[in-house]
Amino acid sequence: MAGGATQPAQEPGPGPQGPQRGPQPVRVAVVGLGRVARHVHLPLLAKLHRLFTVTAVCDAQPGYAHEIAQDLRVPGSGVFRDAHSLFTCGEFDAVLLLTSGSHAGLATEALKRGYPVFCEKPLGHTLEEAALVAESGGRLMLGYMKQYDPAVTHVLERLDPTTIRHIDVSVLHPPERFPATEWVPAPSAAPHHIGDRTHWEYRAVLDSACHDVALVRLLAGVTELRVDHAASWGARDGESGSLEFSGPLPHGRYSVRWHFLPDYPEYEERVRVHTEHRTHELSFTNPYFFGDDSGFERELMAFHSLVTEGKAPLSGIAEGTADIRTALAVLDVLGKAAGSA
Ligand SMILES: NC(=O)c1ccc[n+]([C@@H]2O[C@H](COP(=O)([O-])OP(=O)(O)OC[C@H]3O[C@@H](n4cnc5c(N)ncnc54)[C@H](O)[C@@H]3O)[C@@H](O)[C@H]2O)c1
Repeated sequence: MAGGATQPAQEPGPGPQGPQRGPQPVRVAVVGLGRVARHVHLPLLAKLHRLFTVTAVCDAQPGYAHEIAQDLRVPGSGVFRDAHSLFTCGEFDAVLLLTSGSHAGLATEALKRGYPVFCEKPLGHTLEEAALVAESGGRLMLGYMKQYDPAVTHVLERLDPTTIRHIDVSVLHPPERFPATEWVPAPSAAPHHIGDRTHWEYRAVLDSACHDVALVRLLAGVTELRVDHAASWGARDGESGSLEFSGPLPHGRYSVRWHFLPDYPEYEERVRVHTEHRTHELSFTNPYFFGDDSGFERELMAFHSLVTEGKAPLSGIAEGTADIRTALAVLDVLGKAAGSA
């Protein structure tokens, strides 16, 4: 069975306006209007206008929210620089949390106010943060779009997880490249890492390889990945390097090899699922150049189902928390003491 089918169904909570809005689009507040919002989610929300309408926008950067509000014809009362003020305004049914950094604080606040939340990864930077989100008790979907990719769905329909011998993931990751637009992001300070995030390996798993962890979980039908081997090498000039980690599955093993390559021409990802009978192959290119039917679009449709029907997403708070534990397990196997530099 696929990982998504093993999740307990979440109860449809009431939400601020109630979940049953009939054929009306769900009114969303978009918090965080940077690269992923502008290149991915806002265009897709416009495409899915029968399902969603943006009624509030928020970004801490001066001018960002006004600019997007003008484009989308969001009234001035729906324009915010501060998410706490936005959460008290109430002119929306659900929240898309697309901010950088840890999402735990804002997710907890939105959930406590009864809003279903679509949350970009990672859920949080620590298990303590994740526990606070869990205590809020609301409905949250994590943005692991590869779990919703049509090619992945195709494999899941044909895969018997009990026959898996090995899931082999290989990622070649140059610096992110987005489609060319006229928008130039405002300069922002480099993030200051503390605790486990001082280790690039932790950041690599939590911020990037989490997509692969989520994919392996789904393909293998498990809720959490254990780690019994890890190695890292090749990091230079304060950047990430190469990271390999692997571990057991109920009927085989998985391995993830993730390489940050500053000069590599283009993003490449290969997933090979070797079973006793055949090999299922998946390949992913630069995620920001997506076509008509994409994991990004399907995940938003799944979020709509969460808001309107209470349908459980493939990954929520429990899975996001499990993925933080997997990132910590990688550090542990690497022998990097928690919190040290
Ligand atoms: N699913 C994917 O493939 C994918 C790809 C890229 C990024 N992401 C995730 O999306 C998120 C955003 O990434 P990005 O590349 O767009 O980053 P970004 O830095 O370009 O944009 C983030 C925006 O959030 C705003 N922001 C940060 N904290 C805020 C706060 N407390 N209140 C209001 N606004 C705030 C910033 O001002 C910025 O404009 C990250 O969590 C990242 O991990 C996911």
